Amino acid sequence: MSKDKSGRHIKTGLVASGRPHDGTSYPVSQPVERASTILYPTYDSFMKKNKDYVYGRFGTRSHRALTESLCELEKGDYTHLTPSGLSAITTCLLALAKTGDHILITDSCYDPVRSIGDRFLNRYGIEVEYYDPRAGGDIAALLKPETKAILCESPGSLTFEVQDIPAITAAARSRNVPVVVDNTWSAGYFFNPLEAGATVSIQSITKYIAGHADCLMGSMTTNDKAISTRLERTTRQLGLNVSADDAFLAHRGVRSLSSRLKVHEANALELANWLALQPDVTQILHPARPDHPDHALWKRDFSGASGLFGFVLAPCPEKQLARFFDSLSYFGMGYSWGGFESLIIPCPVAEYRSATPWDYEGTLIRVHAGLEDITDLVNDLETGFQAMRNE
Ligand SMILES: Cc1ncc(COP(=O)(O)O)c(C=O)c1O
Repeated sequence: MSKDKSGRHIKTGLVASGRPHDGTSYPVSQPVERASTILYPTYDSFMKKNKDYVYGRFGTRSHRALTESLCELEKGDYTHLTPSGLSAITTCLLALAKTGDHILITDSCYDPVRSIGDRFLNRYGIEVEYYDPRAGGDIAALLKPETKAILCESPGSLTFEVQDIPAITAAARSRNVPVVVDNTWSAGYFFNPLEAGATVSIQSITKYIAGHADCLMGSMTTNDKAISTRLERTTRQLGLNVSADDAFLAHRGVRSLSSRLKVHEANALELANWLALQPDVTQILHPARPDHPDHALWKRDFSGASGLFGFVLAPCPEKQLARFFDSLSYFGMGYSWGGFESLIIPCPVAEYRSATPWDYEGTLIRVHAGLEDITDLVNDLETGFQAMRNE
């Protein structure tokens, strides 16, 4: 498991970072500091350039504590917060591209990103092209003089292709094109895009970092000062704001991230291995299993796996599917993932693809393995399969 920039284990860094450090005695966690107006005691302090805290929208000590920990996690120098993971992606692309530019987006992207590409960026004259997530270094052939960003999501959170980020960043570097990686699946803990040459690593903090399904937030982390300035400026221009209360909640999640992820990882692998033995299941999509087509890439670049994976159920009538889902007790049906609870949903991925067809038959089901006891989770799925098979 990797070390942070100061040489300590990331696990230690997540506990020790972002602590209050401007008093002689202080609580172990940064208390919630809510503010819009921030007052200065003197004319000189008001006129000073580069003040630490200027206005609530630009962040208070609560936000600063969280961004320090996120820099630790993603091994970056600068982190900027946004109100959701989706707004982090939109803000980043808006910061990098302007009218007349071209952006490459992986075909495996989380589906609302496609709406940003097709119904938002296009309206402002930014050309969006979707590429094969397995393009690797061949992405070089798609780069144009106007290309201003490559967006990756690895593994794709619906179809779980692992992207060859080092090969993509090598191809992009020679043409000076920033690579942006949605790193939410690894929670920043199991993979480090910046070390692999990416320019920006994005998190939906909503998922594992906040970890309790009660807070929405996104982050953009980089080591590049000029890019950081653009990200910060665009965030401010759009008037984006994260509440101090949410920053506090997300920061509390950081402290236990490493331990929670270990349970998500173990439960997901056990569930995937059990599902692989079921006659109704035709395919497991879990990068940590040797039968995954990108297993070797995952093993090379990742130090572990989180709790999100997929499986393909053989074609069956919809009423059978309904019986499966309706008989589950511990797996809830709902969007998002990364919280403490197990989730399961059908994903109609074929309709989201444009560059590479989705060629499995049957229903893709996405599972998020929560922190429940694994025996209860397996028994729950067993109940679902029995209900499905009974006429
Ligand atoms: C991979 C990935 N990135 C980004 C997002 C967006 O995050 P948020 O819900 O915080 O906007 C999601 C949400 O499901 C996601 O799965």
